[in-house]
Amino acid sequence: MGDLHVVILAAGKGTRMKSALPKVLHRVAGIPMIEHVLATAEALRPASTTVVIGHQGDALKVALAAHTQLTFVVQEPQLGTAHALLTAEPALRGASGTVVLLSGDVPLLSLQTLQNLRDRHEAGAAAATVVTAVVDDPTGYGRIVRSGEKIARIVEHRDATAQERAIREINSGIYAFAAEGLFDALRRIAAENAQHEYYLPDVIALFREQGRNVETVVVDAVDEIRGINSRSELAALSRIVRDKKTAELMAAGVTIEDPATTYVDPGVTIGPDTILHPGVSIEGRTTIGGGCEIHSGVRIVDSRLGDRVIVRNHCLITDASLSSDARVGPFAHLRDGAAIGEDARVGNFVELKKTALGAGSKAMHLAYLGDATIGAKVNIGAGTITCNYDGAAKNPTTIEDGAFIGSDSQLIAPVTIGKGAYVGSGSTIRQDVPAGALAVSAGKQRNLEGWVAKKKRNRS
Ligand code: UD1
Ligand code: CA
Repeated sequence: MGDLHVVILAAGKGTRMKSALPKVLHRVAGIPMIEHVLATAEALRPASTTVVIGHQGDALKVALAAHTQLTFVVQEPQLGTAHALLTAEPALRGASGTVVLLSGDVPLLSLQTLQNLRDRHEAGAAAATVVTAVVDDPTGYGRIVRSGEKIARIVEHRDATAQERAIREINSGIYAFAAEGLFDALRRIAAENAQHEYYLPDVIALFREQGRNVETVVVDAVDEIRGINSRSELAALSRIVRDKKTAELMAAGVTIEDPATTYVDPGVTIGPDTILHPGVSIEGRTTIGGGCEIHSGVRIVDSRLGDRVIVRNHCLITDASLSSDARVGPFAHLRDGAAIGEDARVGNFVELKKTALGAGSKAMHLAYLGDATIGAKVNIGAGTITCNYDGAAKNPTTIEDGAFIGSDSQLIAPVTIGKGAYVGSGSTIRQDVPAGALAVSAGKQRNLEGWVAKKKRNRS
């Protein structure tokens, strides 16, 4: 096999999306559609990958900055798909081997199909190989016109005769080309068609006229080559990806009570005997162990859950970790590096930010715990607040093993509550509390006998 070069077309305007965001950055099942294409392309280990940008090209470059191996070429103005590929010529100068052309808006193409494309192309020593499919409704697509077994040319829907429109084999817009002579051929394409654009599919007829071999690869799974031009197609393809993911999870032993309302991103892993209730979203790079139960209305993003973790209704968990046997919620907010220890419990209306809650510790009601390191077997009373922000900087709170924080206490950071210490309810703690001590700061209680009756008399 010779060198492999990938070119991805992404210069088009995406008018029908009606969006300020470049079309190829819209997310399919949580991942920008062009990232799906890049992931598949990268699996081929190409010698180079060139992305043709144009419309909103700068935004696209910024969004793809992490992919340092990409070469960007700008197509301005956008005069059609042949012109788009021609724009990549400087990036491919001197390249030999095979050029695979992908479209940034066709996200579900499988690696297997790409490998088949490459194999067929190289085995046939072809000038071009076209990925095609036979579809029920070919409206809008270019049609594959064959002469005998062989592809003769491709005709765009707008330019097709009634007879050609009856052809149900369509052009996917995905091709392999021999690098040799490709750009010379593209330069010979004319814009003599309904749209006055330079059509890349016209190169097929050109090669055939030159007596060069052109192959086709017909895909059976038509979804693979579906492009996205509108928001409804975006939703439809996202649904396909999600259905595949939930099916895989169920096959691996995860219970999903209602797959239709369960959103699990492709990069998520979940262990067997975990139960997902309806209306759950699990996103990004989340990993969940076995035997967990995730109740309705929960959203988990980029987080790690051990085994047998219970997440009750309506929790938001982002960039957090929950050790095995932890139980959180309902209505808990765990974020930015929150780490819940083994068998620890977080109850309702509790927020943890950059806070470690040690093994077996509890914060059951209405608390804010930020920038805190909390040991094992600590009890955080209802209404406890770590006052971590002094208006300029975030300050740490340390609560050592076995400490007890009475309800409605404020811990003014930086502050440390020693091992086994008690903080009386309603305290405002401004100084460290030594291990084993009791800290109380609320004033002495006074009872004014008969006060209510006196007040009522005064009023009348
Ligand atoms: C194209 C094919 C058609 C095929 C269909 C499959 C042409 C002329 N037609 O039609 O045979 O059935 O794909 O989906 O190629 N692009 C650029 N620069 C341009 C024009 C387009 O980068 O100047 C990019 C678009 O952003 C898109 C891709 O090329 O990613 C395809 O362009 P599009 O206009 O969507 O072509 P179709 O009309 O769908
Ligand atoms: Ca298209």
